[in-house]
Amino acid sequence: MDPSRPTTIPPHEIVVIQTPEERQQCYDVRINVFHTEQKFPLETEIDEFEELATHFLLRLIPSKTPIGTIRVYKAPGGGYYKLSRLAVLKDYRSYRFGRELVLALHDWVRTDALKASQSVAEIVSHSQLYIKGFYAKFGYEAEGAEFDEDGDPHQKMVLRLPL
Ligand SMILES: CC(C)(COP(=O)(O)OP(=O)(O)OC[C@H]1O[C@@H](n2cnc3c(N)ncnc32)[C@H](O)[C@@H]1OP(=O)(O)O)[C@@H](O)C(=O)NCCC(=O)NCCS
Repeated sequence: MDPSRPTTIPPHEIVVIQTPEERQQCYDVRINVFHTEQKFPLETEIDEFEELATHFLLRLIPSKTPIGTIRVYKAPGGGYYKLSRLAVLKDYRSYRFGRELVLALHDWVRTDALKASQSVAEIVSHSQLYIKGFYAKFGYEAEGAEFDEDGDPHQKMVLRLPL
Protein backbone atom coordinates (compact mmCIF):
# COMPACT_ATOMS: atom_id res chain seq x y z
CA MET A 1 0.00 0.00 0.00
CA ASP A 2 1.17 3.51 -0.81
CA PRO A 3 2.42 4.95 2.54
CA SER A 4 1.32 8.48 1.52
CA ARG A 5 -2.30 7.34 1.07
CA PRO A 6 -4.60 8.34 3.96
CA THR A 7 -5.80 5.28 5.83
CA THR A 8 -9.06 6.64 7.24
CA ILE A 9 -11.44 7.54 4.45
CA PRO A 10 -14.05 10.15 5.47
CA PRO A 11 -17.63 8.83 5.15
CA HIS A 12 -19.07 10.11 1.89
CA GLU A 13 -21.63 9.61 -0.86
CA ILE A 14 -21.93 10.41 -4.55
CA VAL A 15 -25.28 11.64 -5.82
CA VAL A 16 -26.59 12.74 -9.18
CA ILE A 17 -27.72 16.28 -8.52
CA GLN A 18 -31.45 16.91 -8.31
CA THR A 19 -31.77 20.52 -7.15
CA PRO A 20 -30.44 23.97 -8.15
CA GLU A 21 -28.67 24.12 -4.77
CA GLU A 22 -26.78 20.89 -5.49
CA ARG A 23 -25.87 22.17 -8.97
CA GLN A 24 -24.47 25.34 -7.39
CA GLN A 25 -22.44 23.20 -4.99
CA CYS A 26 -20.86 21.46 -8.00
CA TYR A 27 -20.06 24.85 -9.52
CA ASP A 28 -18.56 26.06 -6.23
CA VAL A 29 -16.22 23.05 -6.03
CA ARG A 30 -15.20 23.59 -9.66
CA ILE A 31 -14.54 27.30 -9.17
CA ASN A 32 -12.49 26.55 -6.05
CA VAL A 33 -10.37 23.96 -7.89
CA PHE A 34 -10.13 25.19 -11.48
CA HIS A 35 -10.20 28.97 -10.95
CA THR A 36 -8.89 29.67 -7.43
CA GLU A 37 -6.37 26.82 -7.28
CA GLN A 38 -5.42 26.18 -10.91
CA LYS A 39 -5.97 29.75 -12.22
CA PHE A 40 -8.19 28.87 -15.17
CA PRO A 41 -10.40 31.79 -16.26
CA LEU A 42 -13.64 32.18 -14.32
CA GLU A 43 -15.52 33.19 -17.50
CA THR A 44 -15.14 29.77 -19.15
CA GLU A 45 -15.94 27.65 -16.07
CA ILE A 46 -19.70 27.58 -16.57
CA ASP A 47 -20.38 26.70 -20.19
CA GLU A 48 -23.14 25.85 -22.65
CA PHE A 49 -23.15 22.15 -21.68
CA GLU A 50 -24.30 22.56 -18.08
CA GLU A 51 -28.00 21.99 -18.84
CA LEU A 52 -27.31 19.01 -21.07
CA ALA A 53 -24.96 17.40 -18.57
CA THR A 54 -25.59 15.01 -15.71
CA HIS A 55 -23.70 16.33 -12.69
CA PHE A 56 -22.38 14.15 -9.87
CA LEU A 57 -21.74 15.61 -6.43
CA LEU A 58 -19.40 13.98 -3.92
CA ARG A 59 -20.17 15.02 -0.37
CA LEU A 60 -19.28 14.08 3.16
CA ILE A 61 -21.93 12.40 5.28
CA PRO A 62 -23.75 13.17 7.43
CA SER A 63 -22.78 16.86 7.03
CA LYS A 64 -23.42 16.92 3.23
CA THR A 65 -20.33 19.11 2.80
CA PRO A 66 -19.53 19.17 -0.96
CA ILE A 67 -15.97 18.01 -1.76
CA GLY A 68 -15.96 16.85 -5.36
CA THR A 69 -17.75 16.71 -8.68
CA ILE A 70 -17.71 15.40 -12.25
CA ARG A 71 -20.11 15.76 -15.18
CA VAL A 72 -21.00 13.82 -18.31
CA TYR A 73 -23.06 14.49 -21.41
CA LYS A 74 -23.63 12.78 -24.71
CA ALA A 75 -21.94 14.94 -27.32
CA PRO A 76 -24.62 16.41 -29.60
CA GLY A 77 -24.40 14.41 -32.83
CA GLY A 78 -21.01 13.04 -31.84
CA GLY A 79 -21.96 9.55 -30.70
CA TYR A 80 -19.69 9.70 -27.68
CA TYR A 81 -19.90 10.71 -24.04
CA LYS A 82 -17.85 13.62 -22.75
CA LEU A 83 -16.37 13.39 -19.26
CA SER A 84 -15.39 16.76 -17.85
CA ARG A 85 -15.03 19.04 -14.82
CA LEU A 86 -13.60 16.32 -12.57
CA ALA A 87 -12.51 18.03 -9.37
CA VAL A 88 -11.85 17.06 -5.75
CA LEU A 89 -11.03 19.75 -3.19
CA LYS A 90 -7.31 19.80 -2.38
CA ASP A 91 -7.74 18.69 1.25
CA TYR A 92 -9.60 15.57 0.12
CA ARG A 93 -7.22 14.25 -2.55
CA SER A 94 -5.57 10.80 -2.49
CA TYR A 95 -8.57 9.15 -0.82
CA ARG A 96 -9.50 7.62 -4.21
CA PHE A 97 -12.44 10.00 -4.46
CA GLY A 98 -11.44 10.97 -8.00
CA ARG A 99 -11.51 7.29 -8.91
CA GLU A 100 -14.96 6.85 -7.31
CA LEU A 101 -16.32 9.79 -9.29
CA VAL A 102 -15.02 8.35 -12.58
CA LEU A 103 -16.44 4.91 -11.77
CA ALA A 104 -19.83 6.46 -10.88
CA LEU A 105 -19.78 8.22 -14.25
CA HIS A 106 -18.88 4.96 -16.04
CA ASP A 107 -21.87 3.23 -14.37
CA TRP A 108 -24.16 6.03 -15.53
CA VAL A 109 -22.78 5.80 -19.10
CA ARG A 110 -23.21 2.01 -19.12
CA THR A 111 -26.88 2.33 -18.16
CA ASP A 112 -27.51 5.13 -20.65
CA ALA A 113 -25.77 3.33 -23.54
CA LEU A 114 -27.58 0.05 -22.86
CA LYS A 115 -30.90 1.89 -23.12
CA ALA A 116 -29.78 2.91 -26.63
CA SER A 117 -28.87 -0.77 -27.38
CA GLN A 118 -25.20 0.09 -27.86
CA SER A 119 -22.56 -2.63 -27.38
CA VAL A 120 -19.76 -0.22 -26.58
CA ALA A 121 -19.69 3.34 -25.28
CA GLU A 122 -16.91 5.77 -26.13
CA ILE A 123 -15.97 8.26 -23.43
CA VAL A 124 -13.75 11.25 -24.20
CA SER A 125 -11.87 13.39 -21.72
CA HIS A 126 -9.67 16.39 -22.41
CA SER A 127 -6.98 15.75 -19.84
CA GLN A 128 -4.58 18.23 -18.36
CA LEU A 129 -1.14 16.76 -19.06
CA TYR A 130 -0.21 16.14 -15.41
CA ILE A 131 -3.23 13.87 -14.90
CA LYS A 132 -3.01 11.69 -18.03
CA GLY A 133 -1.69 8.81 -15.91
CA PHE A 134 -4.82 9.00 -13.73
CA TYR A 135 -7.09 8.44 -16.75
CA ALA A 136 -4.75 5.74 -18.12
CA LYS A 137 -5.46 3.68 -14.98
CA PHE A 138 -9.05 3.27 -16.23
CA GLY A 139 -7.95 2.30 -19.75
CA TYR A 140 -8.20 5.74 -21.37
CA GLU A 141 -5.74 6.08 -24.26
CA ALA A 142 -4.23 9.24 -25.72
CA GLU A 143 -5.48 10.17 -29.19
CA GLY A 144 -3.98 12.84 -31.44
CA ALA A 145 -1.68 15.71 -30.58
CA GLU A 146 -1.75 17.90 -27.50
CA PHE A 147 -3.87 21.03 -27.88
CA ASP A 148 -4.62 24.22 -26.01
CA GLU A 149 -7.82 24.49 -23.98
CA ASP A 150 -8.47 27.55 -21.85
CA GLY A 151 -4.79 28.51 -22.10
CA ASP A 152 -3.37 25.18 -20.90
CA PRO A 153 -2.08 22.14 -22.85
CA HIS A 154 -4.48 19.19 -22.89
CA GLN A 155 -4.54 15.69 -24.36
CA LYS A 156 -7.61 13.92 -25.74
CA MET A 157 -8.01 10.64 -23.82
CA VAL A 158 -10.51 8.03 -25.05
CA LEU A 159 -12.01 4.97 -23.40
CA ARG A 160 -14.07 2.36 -25.22
CA LEU A 161 -16.18 1.05 -22.39
CA PRO A 162 -17.50 -2.47 -23.01
CA LEU A 163 -21.12 -2.84 -21.93
C1 LIG B 1 -7.78 14.64 -10.67
C2 LIG B 1 -8.25 14.49 -9.24
C3 LIG B 1 -9.76 14.58 -9.21
C4 LIG B 1 -7.80 13.10 -8.71
O1 LIG B 1 -8.44 12.93 -7.48
P1 LIG B 1 -7.86 12.06 -6.26
O2 LIG B 1 -9.03 11.72 -5.42
O3 LIG B 1 -6.71 12.73 -5.63
O4 LIG B 1 -7.32 10.76 -7.03
P2 LIG B 1 -7.47 9.26 -6.56
O5 LIG B 1 -7.02 9.16 -5.13
O6 LIG B 1 -8.84 8.78 -6.86
O7 LIG B 1 -6.44 8.51 -7.51
C5 LIG B 1 -6.80 7.31 -8.18
C6 LIG B 1 -5.54 6.71 -8.75
O8 LIG B 1 -4.94 7.65 -9.67
C7 LIG B 1 -3.60 7.95 -9.25
N1 LIG B 1 -3.32 9.35 -9.54
C8 LIG B 1 -3.78 10.45 -8.90
N2 LIG B 1 -3.26 11.56 -9.47
C9 LIG B 1 -2.46 11.13 -10.48
C10 LIG B 1 -1.64 11.80 -11.43
N3 LIG B 1 -1.51 13.13 -11.47
N4 LIG B 1 -0.97 11.04 -12.34
C11 LIG B 1 -1.06 9.69 -12.34
N5 LIG B 1 -1.82 9.00 -11.45
C12 LIG B 1 -2.50 9.73 -10.54
C13 LIG B 1 -3.58 7.64 -7.76
O9 LIG B 1 -2.25 7.35 -7.33
C14 LIG B 1 -4.48 6.42 -7.69
O10 LIG B 1 -3.75 5.29 -8.14
P3 LIG B 1 -4.07 3.80 -7.56
O11 LIG B 1 -5.53 3.56 -7.80
O12 LIG B 1 -3.19 2.92 -8.38
O13 LIG B 1 -3.70 3.85 -6.13
C15 LIG B 1 -7.64 15.57 -8.33
O14 LIG B 1 -6.23 15.49 -8.41
C16 LIG B 1 -8.06 16.98 -8.69
O15 LIG B 1 -9.15 17.43 -8.34
N6 LIG B 1 -7.20 17.72 -9.40
C17 LIG B 1 -7.48 19.10 -9.75
C18 LIG B 1 -8.50 19.18 -10.86
C19 LIG B 1 -8.05 18.48 -12.11
O16 LIG B 1 -6.90 18.58 -12.54
N7 LIG B 1 -8.99 17.76 -12.73
C20 LIG B 1 -8.75 17.03 -13.93
C21 LIG B 1 -9.07 17.89 -15.08
S1 LIG B 1 -8.59 17.07 -16.60
